[in-house]
Amino acid sequence: MTTASAPGKVYLFGEHAVVYGEPAVPCAISRRARVTAERREDGRLRVHAEDLSLDGFTVEYSGETDTPPDVDVSPDLVQAAMGYVDAAISQAREAAGTPEAGFDVTVESEIPLGAGLGSSAAVVVAGIDAATRELGVELSTEEIATRAYRAEYEVQDGQASRADTFCSATGGAVRVEGEDCRSIESPDLPFVIGFDGGAGNTGELVSGVRELRERYPFAASTVNTIGDIVRQGERALGEENIEEIGTLMDFNHGLLSALGVSSRSLDRMVWAARDAGAHGAKLTGAGGGGCIVALDSTEETETALRFTPGCEEGFRAELDDEGVRIEQ
Ligand code: PMV
Repeated sequence: MTTASAPGKVYLFGEHAVVYGEPAVPCAISRRARVTAERREDGRLRVHAEDLSLDGFTVEYSGETDTPPDVDVSPDLVQAAMGYVDAAISQAREAAGTPEAGFDVTVESEIPLGAGLGSSAAVVVAGIDAATRELGVELSTEEIATRAYRAEYEVQDGQASRADTFCSATGGAVRVEGEDCRSIESPDLPFVIGFDGGAGNTGELVSGVRELRERYPFAASTVNTIGDIVRQGERALGEENIEEIGTLMDFNHGLLSALGVSSRSLDRMVWAARDAGAHGAKLTGAGGGGCIVALDSTEETETALRFTPGCEEGFRAELDDEGVRIEQ
């Protein structure tokens, strides 16, 4: 039996613009998905999933991945989670050269599903590491990241970026530009996350930005300006200038809002964080609903978020320098 864990992530800067070749900076957070893989001799795959959200719901599932469990959550969400486990196991079988290997897989996650915090990437990364080690093979972090990207690519019909899987595999702050992913220096970042309990439709949101960009030159410039914010943000990270990082996050949120990917609940949480004295706040991920990320080392933002209408969860999550790791 082998257990591996991998972190979720927030986008400090650059989501959406990254689709058009601008850089982005995702950061791993101290909320993890844990995957346990235990070899089965009969070649079958059984998946047990628990705590797939914070307090939202619990899925207790034990069965074949083609028969979704009877639980009070969106079957799409559960089916998607199972698809990621399947894809991770396929990658592990291929990496270890044992296409017939069977497993009991248990997934436990502290990362809300489908909320822009990279829950699927964390499950896939931890799943590949746990299952390959269970087969006696140790992959490099780079290979885990590459295989996790392939697994996401397959499940998401080619709509995957390398950012989530690379960040989850390596931990820390990451710079992504096209195919190029690398770790970058960062000071400790006191993240506070607000979650509205929902999720936006990434495909629709990305299409919306694409249409605006094609229609209006100023929307295309807005996307390029987000790239400028990211470049300035990298300098601020190198200088450990938290004030400036916050200012740039605020600016980044304003431009994402202009591109139509914020929402009333995200804006409310962003303003609650700013009013509480956060250095800066922005939506993270595709937008439309889901999560915001703020920077505040005091308790103020977390408390304010808890009292903000439309905010279902407010919690602290430090930057996590550790990527995928073995738990036992
Ligand atoms: O919501 P997430 O964490 O899947 O992030 C989406 C980020 C986008 O830039 C909007 C899309 C992408 O594939 O990079």
